[in-house]
Amino acid sequence: MEIIKIDSLAYKGYGVGRVNSKVVFVGYACPGDTLKIEIYDEHKNYAFGRIIEIINPSQKRITPICKHFGICGGCDYLHIPYEEELYWKTEIFKTEFNKIFKDFENVNLINNINITNNFKNQNYLKYRQKIGLKIFPPFIGFYKKLSHHIVDIEYCHLAKEGVNELLKNIRDLLLSEGYRNNLLNKISQVTLTDTGLKNITFSLNNLIPEHNLIFEDIMNKTRADNIFVEFKKEKEGKWDTGKNIIKYSRDKNDKNLRGKGNYFILKGKKFAYDLPSFVQINKEQNENIIDIITAYIKNIKKSKGIYFDNALDLFCGYGNITLFLADYVKMITGVEADGFGVKLGEKNLKLNDIKNINFVMSDVGDFLTKTEKGRINYDLIVLDPPRAGIKGLVPKVAGLNPLSVIYISCDSMTLLRDLKVFAEMGYLIEQINLIDMFPRTYHMEHIAFLSKKR
Ligand SMILES: C[S@@+](CC[C@H](N)C(=O)[O-])C[C@H]1O[C@@H](n2cnc3c(N)ncnc32)[C@H](O)[C@@H]1O
Repeated sequence: MEIIKIDSLAYKGYGVGRVNSKVVFVGYACPGDTLKIEIYDEHKNYAFGRIIEIINPSQKRITPICKHFGICGGCDYLHIPYEEELYWKTEIFKTEFNKIFKDFENVNLINNINITNNFKNQNYLKYRQKIGLKIFPPFIGFYKKLSHHIVDIEYCHLAKEGVNELLKNIRDLLLSEGYRNNLLNKISQVTLTDTGLKNITFSLNNLIPEHNLIFEDIMNKTRADNIFVEFKKEKEGKWDTGKNIIKYSRDKNDKNLRGKGNYFILKGKKFAYDLPSFVQINKEQNENIIDIITAYIKNIKKSKGIYFDNALDLFCGYGNITLFLADYVKMITGVEADGFGVKLGEKNLKLNDIKNINFVMSDVGDFLTKTEKGRINYDLIVLDPPRAGIKGLVPKVAGLNPLSVIYISCDSMTLLRDLKVFAEMGYLIEQINLIDMFPRTYHMEHIAFLSKKR
């Protein structure tokens, strides 16, 4: 056992202190705490420890709202006030930025950086419009921190009330006598969504007999608008884990529960969501992202007289950002690998009567390779990749020579890695906005605005 005083917070929310001059990262610690810890992972220059006893708590500590905090892998910051979380998220990002760019020779490329805390989100609880629950009968919940064991969850403080209602209904059903043996042990995951449309996705290990009756019944009892059943299929003697789904919709005439169409509305535009595909989990911050991006484009037009003719939205999903960009550019191509995302995107064009978007179903790497050969000019490229970022694709994007690049990212480290390559290739990082899309967790959304250096 060791005694440690925590001085600051670091990436992933770890408290940082020193034991015999070695840096030690401690989960769920608060700056100002004096702790008794146990080291569980030791390296040459640093170590990880876990709290055994809080000897002297920081004055900043608060009582976590959730009984599962510290065990469930979902939240990292329920023990500190929200304002502290925002302060530390910004500090941590600045520290990581300075580390990545410390040896950067061409300072002119980055001296214009402006880290804006566009943290408008006051709803730092009850914001998630989607949760994915793991199942290991009889447990239905989230993974424990750094493990694949499940914490049984009856209520999630980060989820919207509509999602918690679905959670209660689905738990009651799956744990009831009729479903416990027939269905529960055949499911690996249940995803619950309330974007205005209430959807449930079951991931099954195999298709089950009588599935129509079972899922129609679940739809009625949970009052879901759509139920999607994903299952593995045997293809040429192998399990095909690609998306095979059966879909049940409440109203056969494409109407939802409340008698509207099978779509939800975001900032005045209609979005079909009757197929399981990626959706941003925080509606309010998603709206902020759209506002920040469109304000930037409007401002470029006003201040520099630049109007984008031909834009590209890479990793576009069902067009969440593409549909709003279309108001400010002549033509835009959205690229997305998920076929359901593209199908929804095309429905969205019809729902909103938009004519200047072309959705392409493709892997972004393949698309960029083909485009390189075809030499089409794109003057604006928007990117919103998954957490892994775009690594080797930066030269391909920069190689298309866009005037502006807008890089949206949910991971500080991969974003900074990729931004460095953009900067090395002659792009000025004009502005980075930090968006607190995932309050009470260490995760954040970022928007980086880059322009071609002239
Ligand atoms: C972070 S989401 C962003 C989606 C969309 N921009 C939005 O705001 O809803 C990333 C998207 O990239 C897609 N994706 C992941 N890997 C891809 C790849 N290699 N090529 C094309 N799309 C990919 C995913 O299916 C997902 O829709």
